[in-house]
Amino acid sequence: MQDQLSALLAKAAAELPGIVTRPDFEAAKARYVGPNGELTALMKQMGAVPKEQRPAVGKLINETKTQLQAHLDTALARLASAELAAQLGPAVDPTLPSPDPGPGTMHPLTLVREEMCRILRKVGFAVADGPEVETEYYCFDALNTPADHPARDDKDTFYFPAAARFGNVSKKVSDEKYLLRTHTSSVQIRTMLKGPPPIRIVSPGRVYRRDTTDATHSANFHQLECLYVDRNVTVRDLKALLDYVFASLLGKDTKTRFRPHYFGYTEPSFEVDLTATHLPKVKKPWIEIGGCGMVDPSVFEAVGYDPEIWSGYAFGMGLERLAMLLYGIDDIRYFYQNDLRFLKQFA
Ligand code: DAH
Repeated sequence: MQDQLSALLAKAAAELPGIVTRPDFEAAKARYVGPNGELTALMKQMGAVPKEQRPAVGKLINETKTQLQAHLDTALARLASAELAAQLGPAVDPTLPSPDPGPGTMHPLTLVREEMCRILRKVGFAVADGPEVETEYYCFDALNTPADHPARDDKDTFYFPAAARFGNVSKKVSDEKYLLRTHTSSVQIRTMLKGPPPIRIVSPGRVYRRDTTDATHSANFHQLECLYVDRNVTVRDLKALLDYVFASLLGKDTKTRFRPHYFGYTEPSFEVDLTATHLPKVKKPWIEIGGCGMVDPSVFEAVGYDPEIWSGYAFGMGLERLAMLLYGIDDIRYFYQNDLRFLKQFA
């Protein structure tokens, strides 16, 4: 019995340190100390041991059991730390310098936005901001857009469910429907309600329309809005400013032309086209770039300005369209995909 017990221990001491997987460990454990294991089999032979030897053999069995368990515990601890090391991966030295990815680049829309604001600041315009979640009042009503105008249709505009309420809503607009602004013209109203003329603001920002995305449409895009209110402002001032802006952004050979159009908030209203055939990839002689006009007296009345005293112009345009022209980009979707191969081209 004594020999068998020490042979069993020697076998375990030789085998267990070589085990590297959990299933192998569990199998070995069952073979040594499980109900059908070798130690259990030896213990069952106690009945055949002469009575006077039993205390000594019993002690030996207990010692063997303790030592076997110690071998098993050591093997299990070794397996657990190997598993942890595998999960952690190779050792890292946190003191090493990290790989240098180089400086980032500005997004092309940011570049165009900043350049337009710089050009307009130079002639006295201040940057103004407004919320993207708007009410019908700022986006349509105060801009003299009739209740049945197609732009207000929920096929074109993203409306919030009636229950949605945002922040502190004043009494005047608390019954309003909320929407994602369809144009930055809403900032005109917000600015004029803040104080008296003269006003000279530029407001770039995100706008939303229910458009299906393709090479020239996106349900979320960017616009830039300008508003100038003062005494004796004329269409000539408007035309001169747009000529200056586009020549500054796209080059001195750029020319603009006005085509009569209708916008509820300006009278007269125009669509603005520009020629920029000196730019790479520009084929068409005239490209439509935005809308503009002289602020409609009913808009002045909505914000409490006297239309007999004040006059003004406003215009709005898409920033994506400008950036596409300037950089020769032929698909609007590139702006939103965050593909580094695209983004890195704009320093
Ligand atoms: N809000 C118009 C649009 O989204 C653009 C526009 C037209 C803005 C005429 C103006 C304007 O300020 O006077 O298409």
